[in-house]
Amino acid sequence: MKPAPFKLERYFAAHEFSAAYLLCSSDCESMEIGELLALEPGAYEDFSRLRLGYTESTGNPDLRRAIATLYAGIAADEVLVHAGAEEAIFNFMHVALEAGDQVIVHSPYYQSLGEVARALGAEVSEWRGNPEHGWALDIATLKQKLTPRTRVVVVNFPHNPTGFIPGVEFIRELSALAEEHGFIIFSDEVYRGLEADPADRLPAVADLNARAVSLGVMSKTYGLPGLRIGWIATRDRELYRRMAAFKDYTTICNSAPSEFLATLALRHAEALGARNRQIIQDNLDRLDGYFADHQDLFAWYRPKAGSVAFPTLLHGDVEAFCTDLIRDAGVLLLPGTLYGPGFNCFRIGFGRKNLPEALHRLAAHTRKAMSQRTAGGDQNA
Ligand SMILES: Cc1ncc(COP(=O)(O)O)c(C=O)c1O
Repeated sequence: MKPAPFKLERYFAAHEFSAAYLLCSSDCESMEIGELLALEPGAYEDFSRLRLGYTESTGNPDLRRAIATLYAGIAADEVLVHAGAEEAIFNFMHVALEAGDQVIVHSPYYQSLGEVARALGAEVSEWRGNPEHGWALDIATLKQKLTPRTRVVVVNFPHNPTGFIPGVEFIRELSALAEEHGFIIFSDEVYRGLEADPADRLPAVADLNARAVSLGVMSKTYGLPGLRIGWIATRDRELYRRMAAFKDYTTICNSAPSEFLATLALRHAEALGARNRQIIQDNLDRLDGYFADHQDLFAWYRPKAGSVAFPTLLHGDVEAFCTDLIRDAGVLLLPGTLYGPGFNCFRIGFGRKNLPEALHRLAAHTRKAMSQRTAGGDQNA
C-alpha cells in the first residue's frame, strides 16, 4: 500500500511560498549561513575548504558527538543522522513494523507518524489528547488500547499541534509500561528545548528506556530546517543496525555542508535555543492579548512548550475561516481538519519574528469579519 497524500505538507506546498505571512509555521526563526559561520573564528575558511565527497552513512562523527551532548546517557555511536526528522520516521517505521502489527499514536498527529505505519499494513490506533484538559494524554486510556500485537507507541512531546507536555512521572510510567508489554516507544522530541520553564523539559525517552527511540532535528528548536539534518538516538543496537542498513535505500549519507553547519550550530545549541525561546515568549504575550480580546470567537490556552498551539474556532467552519484569511489578509493559518475530521481548530505558529505583523493583519481581518457579521445581523433584524 502507498501512503495517502500528506495533507498538511500539500497545504504548505500550495501556500508556503506565496502567502505573505505564515502564521502557522512550526519551525523557529531561521538565520543566514553567514550568521552561523560568524559564531566561530575560522569557520568561514573551514567551510570553504570542505570537500564535497560522500560522507559517513551514520553521520559525521563530530556531528554525532555534538548531538550526543543533548542527551544524558547516549553515546555518539547511538546516534544515527538522517535527512530531517522525516526520513528517520520513514526508516524507523519500515524497520520496526510488519503488516498486522498494531501502532498506537498520540493524536492529533503529524501525519507521517501514523501514515507510514498504515501504508506498511499496520493497524493504527489513536491515543487522543483531551482538549478539555489542555490536550493531556491519559495512561489509563493507553492501557485499554494495548493488545498483544502492539509493537510501537508513538508520542510527541512537546506536541504538534497542541503544545501539550506531560510531567516526568508520565514518561516514567510510559517507559515502565513499555517494558512490561514489550512495545517500543518512538518519541518524537523535535520540539524539545522549547519549554518556557526549563524545569518542564522532559528527559529524552532514549535516556530512560533502553529500547526506546528519541527523534530530534535541527529544524524547530534551532531554526535550521533548510539543513535537513535530523537523527534518532537509541541504545537498542540491533534496531540501530537495521535502521543504518535501511538508510542505504533512502539517502545513503547526509549532505556534507549541512553536517558541517549543524555541527557548528550544535556547539552553540544553548544560545540558539535561548534566542528562539525568547521570540516565542514575546509572541505568546502578544497572542494572549489578541485572544483575550476575542474570547467570544476562540478558545485559547497558552502552551508551556513548543512553537505551535491549536486554538478552537467557536463559531463557523474553520476551513472557510482560513480560506477567507489567506484571501483577504494574506495570512496563513492551518485548519485543524488537516489533522483529521472534526477538529474545528487551527494551528497557529509563534516561533517567527514577523508574528507582530501577521497578527496585526489577523486582527484587522477579525474586526472586519465581525463588523460584517454585525451588519448582516442588523439587516436580518
Ligand atoms: C512532530 C513533527 N515531527 C517531525 C517533523 C518533521 O521534521 P522535518 O521537516 O524537519 O524533517 C515535524 C515537522 O513539522 C513535526 O512537527
